[in-house]
Amino acid sequence: MASERSALFIFFGGTGDLAYRKLYPSLFNLYQKGTLREKFAVVGTARDKLTDEKFREKVQKSIGSDSKEAEKFISHFYYEAHDVTDKAHYSVLKERAVELDKKYKLQGNQIFYLSMAPNFFGTVAGYLRSEGLVNDKGFSRLVIEKPFGRDYDSAKALNEALAQSFDEEQIFRIDHYLGKEMIQNIEALRFGNTIIESLWNNRYIDNIQVTLSEKLGVEERASYYDKSGALRDMVQNHIMQIVSLLAMEQPVAFTDSDIRAEKVKALRSLRVYNVAEAATNFVRGQYDAGGKINPYREEDNVPADSNTETFVAGKLMFDNYRWSGTPFYIRTGKVLADKFTRVDVVFKKPLVDIFSFPGSSTSKPLDTNVLTLYIEPKAGFALKINAKNNDQGFQTAPVTMEYFVDPEDSKKTPEPYERLLHDALKGDGTNFSSWQEVSYAWKFVDQIRKVWDLQQPNFPNYTPGSMGPAAADELIERDHRQWVYRLNK
Ligand code: BG6
Repeated sequence: MASERSALFIFFGGTGDLAYRKLYPSLFNLYQKGTLREKFAVVGTARDKLTDEKFREKVQKSIGSDSKEAEKFISHFYYEAHDVTDKAHYSVLKERAVELDKKYKLQGNQIFYLSMAPNFFGTVAGYLRSEGLVNDKGFSRLVIEKPFGRDYDSAKALNEALAQSFDEEQIFRIDHYLGKEMIQNIEALRFGNTIIESLWNNRYIDNIQVTLSEKLGVEERASYYDKSGALRDMVQNHIMQIVSLLAMEQPVAFTDSDIRAEKVKALRSLRVYNVAEAATNFVRGQYDAGGKINPYREEDNVPADSNTETFVAGKLMFDNYRWSGTPFYIRTGKVLADKFTRVDVVFKKPLVDIFSFPGSSTSKPLDTNVLTLYIEPKAGFALKINAKNNDQGFQTAPVTMEYFVDPEDSKKTPEPYERLLHDALKGDGTNFSSWQEVSYAWKFVDQIRKVWDLQQPNFPNYTPGSMGPAAADELIERDHRQWVYRLNK
């Protein structure tokens, strides 16, 4: 059993999709593992009028169990109908908090979880402080869902609003990709293996490719997505986080402040493009009709003339000693060929290929070594290396060494939200985005957005089931390279 933690959780947006789908089931997992036991309580708040009983019924449904244990777990749940803009409601919430703190011996520990319209983040944080919910008896932490702003200026304004009520160490900005097992494994692979880390630089790595491919379209989220687009939805947060873990130097120690310091340093050396560079190094796409899929512009709640991108590919350059000259190519999109996330690290070929015999019609040039990190759905890695094939002659052929997490073990891997809630309980900020990381990511992304907002795109430009528009292939082929993962080639 894990060591027990105590806290009151207040979920703003407590009847939302995320809460029922991810957050409450994750808390139940923590309960079953013993991290939460007797000393915790949950208050769900939202506009809906619900009794504690009705709320508990819904929570029970969301965790999908009616065992004795589930019943005990659910008895810790309470509900407060709440208008986040109404100051008076915070006093009611405070009374509940004080009462539950006493009842469950929570020692003043509180986690305020904001999973709601982002324009209210500042308001809620302000009232939590001004109305005395934040106390100094135990810890008071603020967990915030994305999006954190829609550009650098709005993110900065939001951060300043939060900073009036909470210190940076109390703010936990969620990026659920950081809760994924194989994303966390990037650090283990790099800093736990001399054979990897000693080659992890521009002398040996030709390029790195990060692909976050989705099979589904926007589904019922179009009213959010159409104002966001793939650049804000996936690149500014998830991709920039992955890239910073791949690019950073070894942290002094494996602590949140040391890791964050290195990620920030990496992001600081990311080349921020001028207008012309942004236009040539990034491409966007929007899906057309294909098979049973409607074109994006015909999805529910999408304007017929929408210029929102559902696909992005780009080339990133770090101007530092380790990475100068080695590009990081990234891509992400909706309704692509498959659902997966992977990182392909392409090594340079040997400078001289002694196995390519002059005049021989059979000898083939050496292949490149590629280290692939499979993030999801399968978890593991594969290293493609050259070996002699099994023949009389002397020909080389690529072979692959692989490791995949056993699917049975995978089932035991905590869900990202379970991990992140656990980290928030421990006060460990390693797998959350710091303000500095967020701000550098926005500064980079804003430049691309700026160019795109000036130009009319030629949308739609890719077919469902493909790997995006032709321009995404051209982007990398222009550099005499290819995507490692590609279709039918
Ligand atoms: C979210 C985006 O942050 O990540 C969604 O808002 C996207 O648009 C999702 O579908 C992808 O997450 P995952 O964990 O399914 O790869």
